[in-house]
Amino acid sequence: MSTADTRTTVAAAYEDETVVLGYLQHRKRFAWQRLLHNSQSALLNHWRRKSAAQRVLEVAPGPARLSVELAGVSSGVMVENSHEMVAVARKRLRDAGLADNWRVVEGDAFGLGSLLAGQMFEFAYTFRFLRHFREPEREQLYAALRERLLPRGLLVFDVVNAAELTRIESRGVAKSADEIDIYDVAYSEESFRAEMDRFGFDVLELAPVVRNFALQSEISYRLERWLPWAADALVKSLESFPGRQALEWVAVCQKRA
Ligand SMILES: C[S@@+](CC[C@H](N)C(=O)[O-])C[C@H]1O[C@@H](n2cnc3c(N)ncnc32)[C@H](O)[C@@H]1O
Repeated sequence: MSTADTRTTVAAAYEDETVVLGYLQHRKRFAWQRLLHNSQSALLNHWRRKSAAQRVLEVAPGPARLSVELAGVSSGVMVENSHEMVAVARKRLRDAGLADNWRVVEGDAFGLGSLLAGQMFEFAYTFRFLRHFREPEREQLYAALRERLLPRGLLVFDVVNAAELTRIESRGVAKSADEIDIYDVAYSEESFRAEMDRFGFDVLELAPVVRNFALQSEISYRLERWLPWAADALVKSLESFPGRQALEWVAVCQKRA
Protein backbone atom coordinates (compact mmCIF):
# COMPACT_ATOMS: atom_id res chain seq x y z
CA MET A 1 0.00 0.00 0.00
CA SER A 2 1.29 3.51 -0.74
CA THR A 3 1.92 6.21 1.87
CA ALA A 4 -1.29 7.89 3.12
CA ASP A 5 -1.13 11.64 2.36
CA THR A 6 -4.56 12.68 1.01
CA ARG A 7 -7.95 13.50 2.43
CA THR A 8 -9.28 10.01 1.65
CA THR A 9 -6.20 7.88 2.42
CA VAL A 10 -5.46 9.60 5.76
CA ALA A 11 -9.11 9.21 6.80
CA ALA A 12 -9.17 5.55 5.72
CA ALA A 13 -6.07 4.73 7.80
CA TYR A 14 -8.02 5.37 11.02
CA GLU A 15 -11.18 3.49 10.18
CA ASP A 16 -9.51 0.15 10.84
CA GLU A 17 -10.72 -1.31 14.16
CA THR A 18 -7.30 -2.73 15.08
CA VAL A 19 -5.68 0.68 14.60
CA VAL A 20 -8.37 2.34 16.73
CA LEU A 21 -8.19 -0.16 19.58
CA GLY A 22 -4.39 -0.13 19.73
CA TYR A 23 -3.96 3.62 19.15
CA LEU A 24 -3.40 4.90 22.68
CA GLN A 25 -1.24 1.97 23.71
CA HIS A 26 0.84 2.47 20.58
CA ARG A 27 1.26 6.21 21.21
CA LYS A 28 2.45 5.71 24.79
CA ARG A 29 4.53 2.59 24.42
CA PHE A 30 7.96 4.14 25.11
CA ALA A 31 9.19 6.73 27.60
CA TRP A 32 9.91 9.32 24.87
CA GLN A 33 6.31 8.96 23.63
CA ARG A 34 4.93 9.45 27.14
CA LEU A 35 7.12 12.54 27.49
CA LEU A 36 5.81 13.85 24.14
CA HIS A 37 2.21 13.33 25.28
CA ASN A 38 2.83 14.99 28.66
CA SER A 39 4.63 17.95 27.07
CA GLN A 40 1.82 18.49 24.56
CA SER A 41 -0.79 18.32 27.36
CA ALA A 42 1.20 20.77 29.53
CA LEU A 43 1.57 23.29 26.70
CA LEU A 44 -2.10 23.02 25.74
CA ASN A 45 -3.15 23.59 29.35
CA HIS A 46 -0.75 26.51 29.72
CA TRP A 47 -2.04 28.34 26.63
CA ARG A 48 -5.71 27.51 27.25
CA ARG A 49 -5.37 28.98 30.75
CA LYS A 50 -3.36 31.98 29.58
CA SER A 51 -5.91 32.83 26.88
CA ALA A 52 -8.84 32.10 29.24
CA ALA A 53 -10.54 30.49 26.24
CA GLN A 54 -13.80 28.64 26.87
CA ARG A 55 -14.96 28.03 23.31
CA VAL A 56 -12.48 25.38 22.24
CA LEU A 57 -12.32 23.32 19.04
CA GLU A 58 -10.33 20.14 18.57
CA VAL A 59 -9.97 18.78 15.05
CA ALA A 60 -9.24 15.07 14.52
CA PRO A 61 -9.02 14.15 18.23
CA GLY A 62 -8.84 10.41 17.62
CA PRO A 63 -9.69 8.77 20.95
CA ALA A 64 -9.51 12.15 22.76
CA ARG A 65 -5.89 11.48 23.74
CA LEU A 66 -5.35 15.14 24.65
CA SER A 67 -8.84 16.46 25.49
CA VAL A 68 -9.20 14.31 28.60
CA GLU A 69 -6.04 16.04 29.90
CA LEU A 70 -7.28 19.57 29.22
CA ALA A 71 -8.73 21.42 32.22
CA GLY A 72 -11.15 24.32 32.28
CA VAL A 73 -13.02 23.83 28.98
CA SER A 74 -16.72 24.53 29.42
CA SER A 75 -17.75 24.58 25.80
CA GLY A 76 -15.67 22.25 23.66
CA VAL A 77 -16.44 20.82 20.23
CA MET A 78 -14.45 18.13 18.49
CA VAL A 79 -14.70 17.01 14.88
CA GLU A 80 -13.54 13.50 14.11
CA ASN A 81 -14.07 11.56 10.91
CA SER A 82 -13.73 7.95 12.07
CA HIS A 83 -16.92 6.42 13.47
CA GLU A 84 -14.83 4.02 15.55
CA MET A 85 -12.65 6.83 16.99
CA VAL A 86 -15.76 8.88 17.82
CA ALA A 87 -17.11 6.01 19.93
CA VAL A 88 -13.82 5.71 21.85
CA ALA A 89 -13.56 9.49 22.33
CA ARG A 90 -17.12 9.71 23.72
CA LYS A 91 -16.46 6.88 26.16
CA ARG A 92 -13.17 8.36 27.37
CA LEU A 93 -14.77 11.79 27.87
CA ARG A 94 -17.60 10.14 29.84
CA ASP A 95 -15.11 8.20 31.98
CA ALA A 96 -13.18 11.42 32.66
CA GLY A 97 -16.38 13.21 33.74
CA LEU A 98 -16.13 15.56 30.74
CA ALA A 99 -19.12 14.40 28.67
CA ASP A 100 -21.01 17.65 29.36
CA ASN A 101 -18.01 19.81 28.47
CA TRP A 102 -17.50 18.46 24.95
CA ARG A 103 -19.71 17.83 21.92
CA VAL A 104 -18.25 15.21 19.62
CA VAL A 105 -19.22 15.77 15.97
CA GLU A 106 -18.63 12.94 13.52
CA GLY A 107 -17.52 14.48 10.24
CA ASP A 108 -14.84 15.62 7.84
CA ALA A 109 -12.52 18.44 8.91
CA PHE A 110 -12.36 19.60 5.29
CA GLY A 111 -16.03 20.50 5.69
CA LEU A 112 -15.71 22.46 8.96
CA GLY A 113 -17.54 25.40 7.39
CA SER A 114 -20.80 23.50 6.97
CA LEU A 115 -20.38 21.17 9.97
CA LEU A 116 -19.93 24.08 12.38
CA ALA A 117 -21.71 26.87 10.51
CA GLY A 118 -22.03 29.97 12.67
CA GLN A 119 -19.90 28.59 15.52
CA MET A 120 -16.76 30.52 16.40
CA PHE A 121 -13.93 29.56 18.74
CA GLU A 122 -11.24 31.30 20.77
CA PHE A 123 -8.88 28.35 20.75
CA ALA A 124 -8.38 25.45 18.33
CA TYR A 125 -5.93 22.59 18.36
CA THR A 126 -5.15 19.56 16.27
CA PHE A 127 -2.35 17.05 16.74
CA ARG A 128 -0.93 14.44 14.39
CA PHE A 129 -3.26 15.66 11.67
CA LEU A 130 -2.14 18.72 9.67
CA ARG A 131 1.31 17.19 9.29
CA HIS A 132 -0.06 14.27 7.27
CA PHE A 133 -1.09 16.45 4.32
CA ARG A 134 0.75 18.09 1.46
CA GLU A 135 0.55 21.83 0.94
CA PRO A 136 -2.68 22.15 -1.09
CA GLU A 137 -4.65 20.22 1.54
CA ARG A 138 -2.90 21.97 4.44
CA GLU A 139 -3.90 25.24 2.82
CA GLN A 140 -7.57 24.15 2.80
CA LEU A 141 -7.36 23.11 6.46
CA TYR A 142 -5.63 26.34 7.58
CA ALA A 143 -8.36 28.31 5.78
CA ALA A 144 -11.14 26.24 7.39
CA LEU A 145 -9.57 26.69 10.84
CA ARG A 146 -9.04 30.43 10.32
CA GLU A 147 -12.69 30.77 9.37
CA ARG A 148 -13.83 29.20 12.66
CA LEU A 149 -11.43 31.23 14.84
CA LEU A 150 -12.34 34.59 16.31
CA PRO A 151 -9.89 37.45 15.55
CA ARG A 152 -6.65 36.79 17.45
CA GLY A 153 -7.83 33.26 18.24
CA LEU A 154 -5.16 30.64 18.87
CA LEU A 155 -4.30 27.55 16.85
CA VAL A 156 -2.02 24.97 18.51
CA PHE A 157 -0.53 21.94 16.75
CA ASP A 158 2.52 19.73 16.39
CA VAL A 159 5.31 20.40 13.90
CA VAL A 160 7.94 17.87 12.82
CA ASN A 161 11.60 18.99 12.92
CA ALA A 162 13.09 18.28 9.47
CA ALA A 163 16.68 18.07 10.74
CA GLU A 164 15.78 15.35 13.22
CA LEU A 165 13.57 13.48 10.74
CA THR A 166 16.46 13.43 8.25
CA ARG A 167 18.78 12.06 10.93
CA ILE A 168 16.28 9.32 11.84
CA GLU A 169 15.69 8.39 8.20
CA SER A 170 19.42 8.32 7.45
CA ARG A 171 19.84 5.62 10.08
CA GLY A 172 17.53 3.48 7.94
CA VAL A 173 15.55 2.14 10.90
CA ALA A 174 12.70 0.02 9.52
CA LYS A 175 9.19 0.88 10.67
CA SER A 176 7.58 -1.76 12.85
CA ALA A 177 4.87 -3.88 11.21
CA ASP A 178 2.05 -2.15 13.13
CA GLU A 179 3.22 1.35 12.12
CA ILE A 180 0.84 3.13 9.72
CA ASP A 181 2.55 4.21 6.51
CA ILE A 182 1.60 7.88 6.59
CA TYR A 183 3.22 11.07 5.28
CA ASP A 184 4.72 13.70 7.62
CA VAL A 185 5.65 17.16 6.42
CA ALA A 186 8.74 18.49 8.24
CA TYR A 187 10.17 21.99 8.68
CA SER A 188 13.05 24.12 9.82
CA GLU A 189 12.02 26.93 12.19
CA GLU A 190 12.33 29.37 9.29
CA SER A 191 10.27 27.36 6.81
CA PHE A 192 7.54 26.82 9.40
CA ARG A 193 7.34 30.53 10.27
CA ALA A 194 7.20 31.34 6.55
CA GLU A 195 4.32 28.88 6.03
CA MET A 196 2.29 30.35 8.88
CA ASP A 197 2.96 33.85 7.61
CA ARG A 198 1.65 32.85 4.16
CA PHE A 199 -1.54 31.46 5.66
CA GLY A 200 -2.34 34.37 7.97
CA PHE A 201 -1.04 33.35 11.39
CA ASP A 202 1.60 34.83 13.71
CA VAL A 203 3.73 32.30 15.59
CA LEU A 204 3.62 33.12 19.32
CA GLU A 205 5.65 30.15 20.47
CA LEU A 206 7.50 27.26 18.85
CA ALA A 207 8.25 25.02 21.83
CA PRO A 208 10.74 22.17 21.25
CA VAL A 209 9.60 18.84 22.67
CA VAL A 210 11.60 15.63 23.19
CA ARG A 211 14.63 17.90 22.96
CA ASN A 212 17.35 15.27 22.89
CA PHE A 213 15.57 12.65 20.85
CA ALA A 214 18.61 10.56 19.87
CA LEU A 215 19.56 9.88 23.49
CA GLN A 216 16.02 9.87 24.85
CA SER A 217 14.84 7.28 22.32
CA GLU A 218 17.91 5.08 22.85
CA ILE A 219 17.29 5.02 26.63
CA SER A 220 13.57 4.37 26.02
CA TYR A 221 14.15 1.37 23.77
CA ARG A 222 16.83 -0.16 26.02
CA LEU A 223 15.06 0.23 29.36
CA GLU A 224 11.37 -0.12 28.54
CA ARG A 225 11.16 -3.87 29.04
CA TRP A 226 12.84 -4.15 32.45
CA LEU A 227 12.97 -0.67 33.97
CA PRO A 228 10.21 1.49 32.47
CA TRP A 229 10.14 3.77 35.53
CA ALA A 230 13.88 4.45 35.15
CA ALA A 231 13.36 5.17 31.44
CA ASP A 232 10.64 7.70 32.30
CA ALA A 233 12.82 9.41 34.92
CA LEU A 234 15.93 9.62 32.71
CA VAL A 235 14.09 10.71 29.58
CA LYS A 236 12.26 13.39 31.55
CA SER A 237 15.44 14.68 33.18
CA LEU A 238 17.14 14.98 29.78
CA GLU A 239 14.35 17.32 28.70
CA SER A 240 15.84 20.08 30.86
CA PHE A 241 18.96 20.14 28.64
CA PRO A 242 18.44 22.41 25.65
CA GLY A 243 19.56 19.99 22.95
CA ARG A 244 19.56 20.78 19.26
CA GLN A 245 17.82 17.56 18.28
CA ALA A 246 14.20 18.15 19.24
CA LEU A 247 11.92 15.63 17.60
CA GLU A 248 9.08 18.13 17.21
CA TRP A 249 7.76 21.49 18.24
CA VAL A 250 4.39 22.49 19.61
CA ALA A 251 3.41 25.60 17.67
CA VAL A 252 1.15 28.23 19.18
CA CYS A 253 -0.15 30.46 16.39
CA GLN A 254 -2.48 33.42 16.43
CA LYS A 255 -4.95 34.30 13.72
CA ARG A 256 -3.87 37.59 12.21
CA ALA A 257 -6.76 40.02 12.14
C1 LIG B 1 -2.96 10.23 13.94
S1 LIG B 1 -4.60 10.34 14.52
C2 LIG B 1 -4.42 11.69 15.68
C3 LIG B 1 -5.35 11.60 16.85
C4 LIG B 1 -5.09 12.63 17.95
N1 LIG B 1 -5.22 13.97 17.46
C5 LIG B 1 -3.73 12.45 18.57
O1 LIG B 1 -2.90 13.35 18.46
O2 LIG B 1 -3.49 11.41 19.16
C6 LIG B 1 -5.41 11.14 13.18
C7 LIG B 1 -6.89 11.28 13.39
O3 LIG B 1 -7.42 12.08 12.33
C8 LIG B 1 -8.69 11.57 11.98
N2 LIG B 1 -9.01 12.05 10.63
C9 LIG B 1 -8.43 11.68 9.47
N3 LIG B 1 -8.95 12.38 8.44
C10 LIG B 1 -9.88 13.21 8.98
C11 LIG B 1 -10.75 14.17 8.43
N4 LIG B 1 -10.75 14.45 7.12
N5 LIG B 1 -11.57 14.86 9.26
C12 LIG B 1 -11.57 14.60 10.60
N6 LIG B 1 -10.78 13.69 11.17
C13 LIG B 1 -9.93 12.99 10.38
C14 LIG B 1 -8.49 10.08 12.07
O4 LIG B 1 -9.71 9.39 12.13
C15 LIG B 1 -7.66 9.98 13.34
O5 LIG B 1 -8.48 9.86 14.48
